[in-house]
Formats: sequence, structure tokens, C-alpha cells
Amino acid sequence: MNILLLGSGGRENALSWKLKQSPLCENLYIAPGNAGTSAYGTNVPLSLTDFAGIRRFCLEHHIHILFPGGEDTLVAGIYDFIKNDEATSHIIVCGPSKAGAQLEGSKAFAKEFMMRHHIPTAAYREFGETNFDEGVEYLRGQSLPIVLKADGLAAGKGVVIAQSHEEAIEAFTQMIKEAQFGEAGKKVVVEEFLTGIELSVFALSDGTHYVRLPEAKDYKRIGEGDTGPNTGGMGAISPVPFAGPEFMQKIVSRVIEPTINGLKQENITYQGFIFFGLINVEGEPYVIEYNCRMGDPETEVVMPRLENDLVELIVKMDAGQLNEAAVTHSPRAACTVMLVAGGYPGSYPKGNIMTGLEEAAGSILFHAGTADKDGAVVTNGGRVLAVTSYGTDIKEALATSYRNAEKIQYEGKYYRKDIGYEFQ
Ligand code: AMP
Ligand code: GLY
Repeated sequence: MNILLLGSGGRENALSWKLKQSPLCENLYIAPGNAGTSAYGTNVPLSLTDFAGIRRFCLEHHIHILFPGGEDTLVAGIYDFIKNDEATSHIIVCGPSKAGAQLEGSKAFAKEFMMRHHIPTAAYREFGETNFDEGVEYLRGQSLPIVLKADGLAAGKGVVIAQSHEEAIEAFTQMIKEAQFGEAGKKVVVEEFLTGIELSVFALSDGTHYVRLPEAKDYKRIGEGDTGPNTGGMGAISPVPFAGPEFMQKIVSRVIEPTINGLKQENITYQGFIFFGLINVEGEPYVIEYNCRMGDPETEVVMPRLENDLVELIVKMDAGQLNEAAVTHSPRAACTVMLVAGGYPGSYPKGNIMTGLEEAAGSILFHAGTADKDGAVVTNGGRVLAVTSYGTDIKEALATSYRNAEKIQYEGKYYRKDIGYEFQ
């Protein structure tokens, strides 16, 4: 089968690594890809907003599977664009319809969906331009901290956890009156702050049945001890030690199954990955967010622990036969440590030459922000390289990743030294 994977991050590098292992995979193309994805397929310079260009490429290269790695193309409706066109409707799109992608694309939609299906989540109210004053009053009466979420995609920046009422009202005003996150962001979800430990759970759904992939925990803050600004993710581990069979069973029966059944009941076409961003509040799972794609950097530990052929799973998904798939998770632990550019998540340089990549024995290097330049690999983004390792436990996996993280050199290299610190 010919596959076109859309994206250029560590997630897409891990997906290309996994897809290429399948005997069913003939030609793999990655658009636009990075210096790591070219080891598994052909990088092609397509723009992800140019749906007509993607369609043309699919036809010219006889693509059987189109796999959008990130949320933007899904929320913008690539599924419907491909499926509603007679010339391309036979192509398997691994991802939800535009309506299904609203689980991630609209915080208000996701909350209303969870209410309809009795899925545990933080209590909330929704406000907009028409009830702005009521919103301000409401905020004044809430206990602290207060969580505000702009509706719509905001590249991970649309959530504010306000520590004072003044801060909450200021953020609320910016979102609604000043349209800080655009028109869609003028709708704001105000929700209760939940205290607990987060984890990421993944399912691949065929619309009726699903398989569950290995779970993971990511580390979002730039600084050790979970301090400083949020990033796209500084590392991840899998499995998650506190997600034992009993807790996982609660997640399955209270979150995963009601979500998949709810989508089906509402006639929302969804064949693809669902990422459940969860929090464990005293042993009870609550949904913090849904994403309509795999996580990054979680994919860099989930794919290494998934023992099945991913292409085969996608084909079964398309046929509505995931009930016939038995997914196995590797008994080995996996971790990934993200090497980032100096200055990230603020401004940072690009184009720094990287060395030592071939010395990293025992780890899999998933490139994130890298590029090929005159025969050398150079930095080309904030998150540069995910150093993934296996181990009999998380501690052993981390020791290997940290040994190799030291060998890789480029100016300004930074990484957190405490990934998985709670579980050592
Ligand atoms: P989101 O963009 O929805 O993933 O939110 C970003 C981050 O904000 C999450 O990963 C959580 O760490 C935090 N967060 C979101 N909602 C809540 C909540 N209700 N209670 C506590 N933390 C939250
Ligand atoms: N690691 C969180 C995300 O991919 O959204």
C-alpha cells in the first residue's frame, strides 16, 4: 500500500518508523517530513493547508492511506474533502471527519458532548459576547485557581489557569472582547480546577469497535520539577505506573466506551485515533481534553511499545473490523527525552549543526525539528530530537536515553534531566 503521512514532528518520525516496518507498506511519503523521516520514506514538499495539492499528490502517487499526523488538517476537514470527492473517496483517511475533529477543535463542543454522555469531566460554564457580564460575575464567585479555555484551536496556548480573580477576568476579557484567539476563541469555557496527576490514553476507533494503545505520561513544562512555561512536551514515559488494571478499567467503562458509543449514536463519522487527556483525581479518571490525533511526544513511546502491525490495524479500522484485532503492548518500558533548542519555548536559533547522532547506541532517535543542509543535520525547530529507549523498567530506559542525550551535540542543547522523576 502507498501511504502519505502529513506532518514534520517527532510524532511523524515515530509513525513513519512504525509504518515502514509493515510488510503491507510499499511506498511511504511524508509531507513535509524532516531529516529523520527520510530514513523511512520520501519527504515531499506539500503544504498542509493546500488540500487541492494533497489531493493531486494522492491521485498521482496512487495513495491508499492518507494519515494526517496533526489536528490542523483534520479540524479543517481533510477527511470530508477526500471522502466527498469521487476520485479520492476510496482512499483510507486515518482520522475523523470534520464533525468528529470538533472533539479537539471546540472546547465547548467537547464539554457538551461529555455532558450528553455522562463522561466525567470538570464542572463548567460557557460564556461569550452575549453573556459577558454574567461571566465576569461568575468568575468573581469562583474559588481559585480558575481554568479558562478559549474555544477553537489555539496551538496549545488557549488555556489559562488563573491564580486570582483579577487575572481570570483579564484573560476572559482578552479572549472575548479582544478576540485574542480569533473569532472561535470568543466563546470561553470556564471550568473547575482539578487536582491530580495527568496521563494520556489512546484508542484507535473504527466507529464501532476500538483497540487501546499503550498509555503514556508526558512532561509539558520546560523546567525540572514541572516548573516554568509550557512546551510542546519535554519527554514521555510508558507504561504509567499508577495506571493499573483497576484504574484502566474505570477509564474504559466511564470514558473510552461512552465516547465511542456517543459518537456513533450522534452519527459522527470517526475512524482514527482518539487521545484522551485524563487526570487521576484520587483514583477517579476525569477528562481534561480530547485530541483527534496521537500525542507528541507520547507517540515516541507508544509506537515503540505497540507490537502490532500499524498498517494492518488501519486496514481493519477502515473495514470496521477492529473487533478482530488483538493488540499487544510490549512488556518493556519505553521513555523519550526531548532535546530542545536553547531559548525554547521562547525564541531560539535554527541551523545549528548536530553531531554525535551515530554514536547514540541503544536508543532510537526520532527527529522533531531537524533538517538536512549540505550533507549535515541541522536544528530546525524548538523541539529538536526525541531520544527514545527501551528498558526492563522506566529507570533503565531513562538511563540509556540520558547516556545518549549527552553524546549528541549542538550549540544551545537543553533537556530536562528529571523525566519520570515521580516513578524512580
Ligand atoms: P489543554 O489544552 O486542555 O490540554 O490544557 C492544558 C493543560 O492545562 C492541561 O494539560 C492541564 O495540565 C491543565 N488543565 C486543563 N484543564 C484543567 C483543569 N480543569 N484542572 C486542572 N488543570 C487543567
Ligand atoms: N503531548 C500533548 C499533545 O500532544 O497534545
